[in-house]
Amino acid sequence: MAIAPTNPVSSLVQSLGEIPPDAVVFGRSSVMQAVRERLDKVAGANVPVLIQGESGTGKDIIARMIHSFSPWKSGPYVKVNCPAIPGTLLESELFGYEKGAFTGAYGMKPGRVEMAHRGTLFLDEISELDLALQSKLLQLLQDGQFCRIGAQEDKKVEVRIVCATNRVLETEIENGTFRQDLFYRINVVNLRLPALRERRGDIEDLAQYFLEYYNRKYNCRARALSSDLMAILQKYHWPGNIRELENLIKRYVILGNEDVITTDLVSREQEYFNPEINLDGPISLKKLTRQAVRELERKVILKVLQANHWNRKQAARALSISYRALLYKIRDAGLPANGSSRRRAEPMPNQGAAAD
Ligand SMILES: Nc1ncnc2c1ncn2[C@@H]1O[C@H](COP(=O)(O)OP(=O)(O)OP(=O)(O)O)[C@@H](O)[C@H]1O
Ligand SMILES: [Mg+2]
Repeated sequence: MAIAPTNPVSSLVQSLGEIPPDAVVFGRSSVMQAVRERLDKVAGANVPVLIQGESGTGKDIIARMIHSFSPWKSGPYVKVNCPAIPGTLLESELFGYEKGAFTGAYGMKPGRVEMAHRGTLFLDEISELDLALQSKLLQLLQDGQFCRIGAQEDKKVEVRIVCATNRVLETEIENGTFRQDLFYRINVVNLRLPALRERRGDIEDLAQYFLEYYNRKYNCRARALSSDLMAILQKYHWPGNIRELENLIKRYVILGNEDVITTDLVSREQEYFNPEINLDGPISLKKLTRQAVRELERKVILKVLQANHWNRKQAARALSISYRALLYKIRDAGLPANGSSRRRAEPMPNQGAAAD
């Protein structure tokens, strides 16, 4: 059977893919409501937007939403993942080339900038562009013109440019690796996406959404998350943000077992202490110290519990605290009662010998 030839141009113009419902993307947190308001205002205006946020906070989704809310939504949406294309190829990928521009350029090839004409060009991980490409991009932003490699004349395009980064570009400017004038051009409107730990109020709804989504997708029937596990999710620091939560729930749906992910989360948490210090407001040293002590206590308790195979009586002895105090601390720290999230009857400390 003949295979239809693939069109290299159209394969670069992305389909928008599935975007979760608005209520899921923005949730209830006030930080995300502010993002929503700003996105609504900016989507219709042809100005560059810079999306900043840690990895997994949803920059890709927001870029797609900007396009789908814009007057150019029926036009192309072209994404360029800058670090994924080797430095030497990136210029020809972005700006295209003329026949004979370099050895091996047997025909002309349009770049992704051109493909995005009357649509959106999404430049992901913009900090990865080298300085020469940054100047070419600056020209495109200034007058909508660019030059294919080997061409005699500039070309003009109408394109909405959206950039994303998980780096702090101001630091890159200080280091001399990012042009300040380009930063001002791409940063006409800035959307900063909060880390998941800054929007803990949305964790439950997001988890619920992913649970239903993957149950449907994989035709599974994983049960609603237990309140023990939900409490652990609430306290976890989520370095991988929503992507990490999504993968965790996906794993739960497939394995159908909370224990695996609970143990995994608890051990991921073990090495972490990173107090959230807001330098814009007053800092309470007392509160931070208390937080650090609790965190240290949690780590020590966890290590001792693991070393004692979750035998709490032995662990209490090793820690030189009472069994009752240990149970209280385990609950307070959001640790699982018995090394898993399985709920089993908790022996009351005042009922004498605890059945560990
Ligand atoms: N607000 C959200 N609601 C639902 N799902 C989300 C949300 N934000 C992100 N996700 C999901 O989390 C995953 C990561 O999102 P996305 O790729 O947009 O993050 P990113 O900020 O671009 O990450 P990176 O910096 O690593 O490229 C995706 O699978 C996406 O579907
Ligand atoms: Mg991304």
